[in-house]
Amino acid sequence: MSKYESISQNDFKNGMRKLAAAVNVITVEYEGSRDGLTATAACSVSATPPQLLICVNSEAQGHTLIRKSKSFVLNIMALKQEDIAVRFAGMDSTERSQRFDIGSWSTLITGSPCLDGALVNFDCEVVNEIVAGTHSIFIGHIVGSRTSDDNVSPLIYGEGQFTSLTE
Ligand SMILES: Cc1cc2nc3c(=O)[nH]c(=O)nc-3n(C[C@H](O)[C@H](O)[C@H](O)COP(=O)(O)O)c2cc1C
Repeated sequence: MSKYESISQNDFKNGMRKLAAAVNVITVEYEGSRDGLTATAACSVSATPPQLLICVNSEAQGHTLIRKSKSFVLNIMALKQEDIAVRFAGMDSTERSQRFDIGSWSTLITGSPCLDGALVNFDCEVVNEIVAGTHSIFIGHIVGSRTSDDNVSPLIYGEGQFTSLTE
């Protein structure tokens, strides 16, 4: 517990709106079930061994699958894949079962879905989970990767909207 009082949820949200970030779709497969969610909370942890972290709300359905399968893919989204990011954030009118109906999907090592045409797919095995408030920080050991050509632009989220680096 902290000896200080928390800032309000409003101040947290207003501050975090200023933190422009790359948009990712985290995907997972467990015993034939696939799921995923859009997430900006992801970052590099270590190069040797190669590790990254993601923060996933424990109420997201993908959270349960990541825990069970101990794997996930971090798909770093290209600008032209905004429709897929919108869908995996549950922001369009489609059913959850339709999340994988757009985009083309393949697999690398763990069997979790890799989005073709993403900037990068990092295929990860979970090596640690830290529960932090409403979220889990999953640390993934990167066991496979696929990187697109250099001329693919990233999808960014900032000030509450999807945007590009140049806008
Ligand atoms: C731009 C953006 C970034 C998001 N980042 C995260 C994130 O880092 N972690 C997270 O758990 N949810 C994040 N979300 C929310 C999830 O994408 C959303 O709640 C999703 O619907 C979760 O899956 P569910 O439908 O299974 O609950 C983000 C949403 C958006 C639009």
